[in-house]
Amino acid sequence: MSRVLPVDPSAPDADAVGEAARVLRSGGLVGLPTETVYGLAASALDEGAVRRIFAAKGRPPSHPLIAHVLDEDAARRLAAAWPDAAHRLASAFWPGPLTIVVDRTREVPSAVTGGGDSIALRAPSHAVARAVIRALGHPIAAPSANRFQGLSPTTADHVLRELGAHVDLILDAGPCAAGIESTVVDVRTARVRLLRPGALDLPSLRRIVPDIERADQALRGLDPRPSPGMQARHYAPRARVLIAADRAEADRIACGLIAQGSRVGLLVLGPTPGRSSERLAVRQLGRVPADYARALFATLRSLDEAGVDVVVVEAVPDDDIWLAVADRLKRAACPA
Ligand code: TXA
Ligand code: MG
Repeated sequence: MSRVLPVDPSAPDADAVGEAARVLRSGGLVGLPTETVYGLAASALDEGAVRRIFAAKGRPPSHPLIAHVLDEDAARRLAAAWPDAAHRLASAFWPGPLTIVVDRTREVPSAVTGGGDSIALRAPSHAVARAVIRALGHPIAAPSANRFQGLSPTTADHVLRELGAHVDLILDAGPCAAGIESTVVDVRTARVRLLRPGALDLPSLRRIVPDIERADQALRGLDPRPSPGMQARHYAPRARVLIAADRAEADRIACGLIAQGSRVGLLVLGPTPGRSSERLAVRQLGRVPADYARALFATLRSLDEAGVDVVVVEAVPDDDIWLAVADRLKRAACPA
């Protein structure tokens, strides 16, 4: 079972950071916080350690990982080409929750990139993640620290419970600020493509790349996977997830399921007149997208723990600012 070391999220303790770097240097895995979700980190230059990530997660080896760096200079060293769009995006949003896909150099083992010629790069802003990368002295490869297709962890406890047997050390810096993964963009094409909506919202991205192309729209009907490692079902709790068009429909579906004997979780935006009962667990996540995103995965986990069979979700507004949350809900609702 993994050791857990508490760390101050803004001023990480040098001993804990040094211990994490030591574990990484010796080929181990470290669960660590970023501003988005907790990551399962290995040294990006250690092929054997990177393979342990895939084994721990039960993730197919063709699904590429993100290499985490300190800054644009470090990113460029791993990139065969660094288009102007990459520079503009990195200048505007790094360090922060944006991942940029570029052509790769051979510096990083191909296990990191799922055998492909491109590499996903991100400079996280979380002080603990940065301190660990700095102490190690080179990039870390880190997917979200959850089992394949499951909910991303937003606390150290989530990591411990799900992957504790596979991780050598977990740094606990409390809950993540964003609660949802980074936004992934591909800058290798003439038009920058949004591969995964995420913590950096689309309106913000458009300020730097006004003509950004949404891969989910461009590829509709052609290829359900805008990038390797993106599947229709992802970010899913154990319970079945149903999305209702509005609150009235959500209530109706929930009532019907309860009448059939199911235990139901109800995820709503606005205030809840109804109260939770033995068969109904109501969770209100509010109408502010960032607040909703921060609480989403932890709430779905708590509903799994409460033993619900089905989570009925009131659809979030069809609006660009809600894109990342809507994407996660859609993937969670995709049948297994
Ligand atoms: O916020 C985050 O991005 C978190 C934290 C830990 O940084 N990491 C994360 O990693 O969510 P992961 O492995 O769970 O998701 C990585 C995403 C996947 O959707 C994958 O398809 C995409 O990035 N990706 C990685 N490398 C890629 C590549 N070379 N080309 C296209 N997409 C890539
Ligand atoms: Mg993930």
